[in-house]
Amino acid sequence: MIARPKGTKDVLPSEAYLWHRLEETARETAERFSFREIRTPVFEHTELFARGVGDTTDIVNKEMYTFLDKGGRSVTLRPEGTAGVARAFLENGLAGGAMPFKAYYLISAFRYERPQAGRLREFHQFGAELYGSGEPFADAEAISLADTFLKNLGLKRVELQINSIGCKSCRENYHAALKEYFRPYLSDMCADCNARFEKNPMRMLDCKEERCRRATAGAPRMLDYLCGDCAAHFAAVRELLDEAGIGYTVNPSIVRGLDYYSRTVFEFTSSAAGAQGTVLGGGRYDTLLEQMGEKSVPAVGFAAGMERLLMVTAAENAAMQEEAGVCCYLAGMDEASRKRAFLLADGLRKRGIACECDLMNRSLKAQFKYADKSGARFVAVIGEREIAEGAAEVKDMKKSSSERVPFENLAEYLSARK
Ligand code: HAM
Repeated sequence: MIARPKGTKDVLPSEAYLWHRLEETARETAERFSFREIRTPVFEHTELFARGVGDTTDIVNKEMYTFLDKGGRSVTLRPEGTAGVARAFLENGLAGGAMPFKAYYLISAFRYERPQAGRLREFHQFGAELYGSGEPFADAEAISLADTFLKNLGLKRVELQINSIGCKSCRENYHAALKEYFRPYLSDMCADCNARFEKNPMRMLDCKEERCRRATAGAPRMLDYLCGDCAAHFAAVRELLDEAGIGYTVNPSIVRGLDYYSRTVFEFTSSAAGAQGTVLGGGRYDTLLEQMGEKSVPAVGFAAGMERLLMVTAAENAAMQEEAGVCCYLAGMDEASRKRAFLLADGLRKRGIACECDLMNRSLKAQFKYADKSGARFVAVIGEREIAEGAAEVKDMKKSSSERVPFENLAEYLSARK
């Protein structure tokens, strides 16, 4: 047998309903904030991610699924959704439309990472992007959408951490300060951090290696280097969050793993997601669209990891784990009643009622056992006598009571009790 590739997962029919709930909650919440869905290709020209996500990131340097297609073009399976949405926005001339532009997506993404619980090579994201507003209100709306989504999933133990990584000009001073700080530690730090020192020293704060983490302990904080405008922006975002009652802590060590961010960055974490505690991450990225097009379009957004959210909801929200079975199982006692059950089931489905009947030629007892296992709320039993009377014996599986219901009233009877 050929096994599935490492770091991928099958979603089996027995667990698909959990995905549907997550996806429905994502759609409903995003649409309540007036975000509309966008769908972009699974693969893009490699250059889009190299330029968009950034060539000092682990994603671009180590984790991309890149290959030459039969025409010899280098293409890459998307490692995230932001760069593709930005490209689609520019390419389809949406920059000339009404602002703000607000879009959400439910996508699979691909990163060649070392798989572990909550870290996969193919994973799924719910993301949202808001273009055209540089106002703190836009940051606050993106964070509020993320927060509402997680609350709508019934999650109470997720924590929001925010930081500001400033703009290009205040970051210049900060990078100089970081270099001065890290220089004496360089010989003890990993090869990646030595490369980051030259290209993007802020990324050194994000290194997972123990020896590098030790070195970062006393590093200068970006927040102390913010220029006047960036400091005022961050203060305004915080004020809006405070007034909206969205709890957060300021964590100066959040720098995020992608190059495009500026000013506000944020992460929602949960201890229930194991070692991979970040369930959602995002921030402002005011220069990405300008880099890709020619017009400056401020932007802010986030993405949540669906597999991590499934782990967290399993730990935190028992109600969401209950699967709704079919409404009614129609059991037939003999050949003729089995046929009647089939036809009744067919009619009920056309009237919007989920039901099932026997396809296995099973005994009545075995049919009941199956109906019970599959979570049917009612079992309608049909035999010779029921056919003669034109009524089924409908058993309520929760109450263990039963009632005679004429065939022609079955749809109404079940609809009223759905
Ligand atoms: P990110 O932090 O790279 O940001 O990913 C967002 C979320 O995707 C993470 O917090 C995590 O829950 C999930 N995730 C990432 N990698 C994996 C993996 N290998 N396995 C399972 N889950 C994973 C972005 O992707 C940005 N595009 C977010 C954004 C949108 N920023 C602005 N707009």
